[in-house]
Amino acid sequence: MTMKLSTLVLGVVLGGIAAPAFAEGDAKKGEKVFRKCKACHVVDSDKNRVGPSLQNVMGRVPGSVEDYKYSKGMIAYGEENVWDAETLDAYLEKPKDVVKGTKMAFAGLRKEKDRADVIAYLMEHSEEVAEDEEKADSDS
Ligand code: HEC
Repeated sequence: MTMKLSTLVLGVVLGGIAAPAFAEGDAKKGEKVFRKCKACHVVDSDKNRVGPSLQNVMGRVPGSVEDYKYSKGMIAYGEENVWDAETLDAYLEKPKDVVKGTKMAFAGLRKEKDRADVIAYLMEHSEEVAEDEEKADSDS
């Protein structure tokens, strides 16, 4: 059920990816930005560190990695949201404003470009997006 929903939302997001609301991200630069996240997160495996693994985070329900103990705020946020370019952009700018009571001790990325780049990098490490992109291509 949640899978269905996230796939649906993803489709909408991918369709809107060229919308001017978001600066286009550069995954290569995003890898550098991700250094700021590395103390607490990995993207290339499902290992949780201080924070949950961010592998396949795109299209995922917030707070849904098994065996990771999230804050109540993140679980509540996941009841109505899915991680996509838009929700990640907001969360990464001001984590505590978007997810009340989040335990992610990170001030945020103030530069829009840094957020767009790191989101592109996270997208590269999300299989579901790659599959969906193919599907979206053949659908259109
Ligand atoms: C000091 C450690 C720390 C740093 C640095 C950090 N995070 Fe986090 N992150 C966390 C913790 C802890 C959580 C769990 C938050 C909660 O449960 O409220 C989290 C949660 C997240 C989530 C939600 C994941 C999910 O499974 O729902 C995303 C997305 C995220 N972080 C992205 C980032 C990115 C991108 C960066 C770098 C720009 C970053 N974080 C930097 C500790 C950190």
